[in-house]
Amino acid sequence: MSFERIYIFDTTLRDGEQSPGISLNPFEKLEIAEQLARLGVDVIEAGFPVSSPGDFEGVQKIARGVSGVIVCALARAIENDVRTAWEAIREAEKPRIHTFISTSDVHLEHQLRKSRAEVLEAAKKMVALAASLCQDVEFSAMDATRSDPDFLAQVLAVAVQEGARTINIPDTVGYAIPSEFGNFILGQYDRAPALKDVAVSVHCHNDLGLAVANSLAAIEAGATQIECAINGLGERAGNASLEEIVMILETRHADLGRVTGVNTTEITRTSRLVSQLTGYDVQPNKAIVGRNAFAHESGIHQDGVLKERTTYEIMSAATVGRGQSDIVLGKHSGRHALANAMEELGYKLSADELNQAFLHFKQIADRKKQVTAVDLEHLVSEEVRVQSDIFELESYEVTSGSGKIPSTRVTIVKDGETLPGSSESGGSMESIFKAIDNAVGTKGKLKDYQVRSVTEGKDSLGEVRVVVDVGGKPFAGMALSVDVVEASAKAYVRALNNAYRTGAVS
Ligand code: KIV
Ligand code: ZN
Repeated sequence: MSFERIYIFDTTLRDGEQSPGISLNPFEKLEIAEQLARLGVDVIEAGFPVSSPGDFEGVQKIARGVSGVIVCALARAIENDVRTAWEAIREAEKPRIHTFISTSDVHLEHQLRKSRAEVLEAAKKMVALAASLCQDVEFSAMDATRSDPDFLAQVLAVAVQEGARTINIPDTVGYAIPSEFGNFILGQYDRAPALKDVAVSVHCHNDLGLAVANSLAAIEAGATQIECAINGLGERAGNASLEEIVMILETRHADLGRVTGVNTTEITRTSRLVSQLTGYDVQPNKAIVGRNAFAHESGIHQDGVLKERTTYEIMSAATVGRGQSDIVLGKHSGRHALANAMEELGYKLSADELNQAFLHFKQIADRKKQVTAVDLEHLVSEEVRVQSDIFELESYEVTSGSGKIPSTRVTIVKDGETLPGSSESGGSMESIFKAIDNAVGTKGKLKDYQVRSVTEGKDSLGEVRVVVDVGGKPFAGMALSVDVVEASAKAYVRALNNAYRTGAVS
């Protein structure tokens, strides 16, 4: 039996990055893109280059540095967008321009203020321009599911005629329901027969919790590309979750007759990396990647699974890369052992990166008996984050105790200059955050503060996430340490680094 190939278009770094509060720097984007390539997605939508210089840089870094996968850049159907997208991806091994325009009357009237004829013309010209620059062009009709099906088909046919190889039919506002969406796709094949000559893609949002179900309905109606994001990230309620789509096709492949090119054992690691770098936690009961997705709590279930795993499990945890690695390092492990462990985890570190990682590893190993694969993954993402930081926490000292007002001294390094700061007030955390503000010259307001342990045991790494309001805008920061006071200080400094990147701190 031959299975039809479904192409996985990952939009974590574009639509996912549009989730409120997420702001990845170019190094973080590259790190995620490298992991997406390891995961085996077919297309990485790296960003929307015209939207900011930082986005342009991130897309360009990915285009230059990630091979074996299509690197795609988004552009509105506007000449400057299309040309900027092309500039960002032109050095990619396999570049793709993705251009889009809305086709629903509600968007035409209230947002674009364009007639249908103008939209048709813009789509025609911009797909033609994109195709003159890049062999691989994708066209999306934004808000397709609320568009007049005849007008939509007319626009899609023009896009195919002008050279689009992939036609994407998005459910932009997550309004569709599966049976209706499947018929909608079939209706477009009837109205625009040229669709049979190209790849039909769908991009479903999750406003009604139906993004994955709608994507599946589209596959059954003939779509061969699915746009989705790790952990279901994306605008509002997010996009279809990549891991769910892939595992549905994998687990039920005999019935659905479709396969993807994804290496499912990389799913868990990718999910963790995205969660760490974006600061978006995964809900514990989330399918496939939630902490409890393979946990059996009730006695009856535990009894069944112990006797025969398939009594209550439709897929094994190992298929998605859980609990596979038994890497354990300790304080006597050397550079070579660290390099080997990193390689086993899929990270190829340069000599400089290895030196840096080794220093950090030693600090952890001195305070923690066993350094596990989970610790090492966190360590790598920590290294990535600090590469582009302007402020660095050099040292801190907090004095506190019963009945004492905590007093803190910190030194922050900025461009080689040491900035001292101090504070005596409130609780220990308040005091350390104020001392950092004092050194940097900011007045941050702490909006959120969370601490959790990364692994088990009293010596576990502590992960601290903060959201700091600087000048009326929220900035997130995350850091790890065996010492939660240090992790808190570093997370606060990280948030100030993010604020600095946007100009909110000078
Ligand atoms: O939701 C949407 O319609 C989009 C397009 C740009 C594809 O994100
Ligand atoms: Zn979208």
